[in-house]
Amino acid sequence: MGAVAAAAGSAVGLGNVWRFPYVVGEDGGAVFLLLYVIFTALISIPIMMTEFAIGRKTGLPVTSAFSKLAPGSKWGLIGVLGMLTAFLIISYYNIVSGWTLYYSVASVSGWLDSLSEPEVTDFFSSLSSDPFRCIIWMVIMLTATAVVVAQGVSGGIEKYSKILMPLLFILILVMVVRAMLLPGGLDGLAFFVKPDFSKLTTRTVFDALGQSFFSLSIGMGTMTTYGSYLRKTENISSTAIHVASIDFLVAFLSGAVIFPCVFAFGINPGEGPGLVFVTLPNIFNQMPFGRIFSSCFFLLLVVAALTSSVSLLEVVVAYFKQSFKMGRRRATILASVSCLFFGLCCSLSQAVFNIFDNVTANIMMPIGALLIVIFAVTRIKREDMRAELEKHGKPFRLFNLYYFLVRYVVPVVIGIIFINGIVAWLSK
Ligand code: PFF
Repeated sequence: MGAVAAAAGSAVGLGNVWRFPYVVGEDGGAVFLLLYVIFTALISIPIMMTEFAIGRKTGLPVTSAFSKLAPGSKWGLIGVLGMLTAFLIISYYNIVSGWTLYYSVASVSGWLDSLSEPEVTDFFSSLSSDPFRCIIWMVIMLTATAVVVAQGVSGGIEKYSKILMPLLFILILVMVVRAMLLPGGLDGLAFFVKPDFSKLTTRTVFDALGQSFFSLSIGMGTMTTYGSYLRKTENISSTAIHVASIDFLVAFLSGAVIFPCVFAFGINPGEGPGLVFVTLPNIFNQMPFGRIFSSCFFLLLVVAALTSSVSLLEVVVAYFKQSFKMGRRRATILASVSCLFFGLCCSLSQAVFNIFDNVTANIMMPIGALLIVIFAVTRIKREDMRAELEKHGKPFRLFNLYYFLVRYVVPVVIGIIFINGIVAWLSK
């Protein structure tokens, strides 16, 4: 299994197609996009490389990698924080996966077929405000995730996703073309790519950093665990750049579909977590073979969500296995049942859902990322880090830049954004 494909399976998911557009919409459009690109290039890619390097160096998942490099210290808590973050994310992530699954069933059955624009909005509101249906579909997705993890067949599903994800990509490309041709579509594109700096707020910066971490699955050790599977011959820096580029492209294209539609159909870009679901059915209704496109799109998105959800549950299961000395199956059952409990809380309350979503991406992941880079520069010798990044046998020409970013830029930028963001958040 290619390292890039495996890590991209975790990175590309609902974060790209569901979360990215709704946060862009809430945070003023293109300014957010600009910050997102800058943070991904200068902050997130170096963090991903660091996580890969720590994982490969130790050959261990996040739950034990840090304590191996610093025995007897408290650094092992990075693993605990990562586990807690994964736990909270799964709890609400599977609700959105459940909505996606419901939309695939609705597409196949033709329920979405001839809905007018207000009916599309009502369709989503009636689903999201009905805890019973949300719970049923969430349980189906959580169970699917648990079955994959319990059987230890994540590699198998990633193999399928290697074929299916390019298909999703092609479908999104077709949708981009259709969306641009809608009347008013180009205004939507302008909102997405032409920055209006008057919309720049502390909140925009805070959210852009959080979204970049969330989308790339960094700051909680998932990528450390993937790093432990990387072969010696693999080039860590180019793997990280590839994964980040694929991830960015999917998010960017999703935005290039959503915003033209948002403007063409008079939807509020700041609609929130329902944005994708109240927007996309409208465009499928205007496409030839819309029902087939819609069914394929939502089904492929379910697969993308599943590979990400599996990588999240793996973090929790690895922790339970190690800490409570239990087998994979029992650990999976225990982890999933606990996630189910928190998932129920998110289904019953929109406020809890929003808090989990914000706290994990904007607070827990940046703290995790900060700890990981501080660990890397204080506990691993510079030359050892260089050796790990050059293990595949070729010099890493940008090593000095990488080290400068990780040592100074990443911690300072995360620190400043984080403190300002928390103050702004609390005073909202
Ligand atoms: N990156 C995933 C997405 O964009 O949907 C979400 C995610 C998966 C976050 C795994 C964190 C993680 F460890």
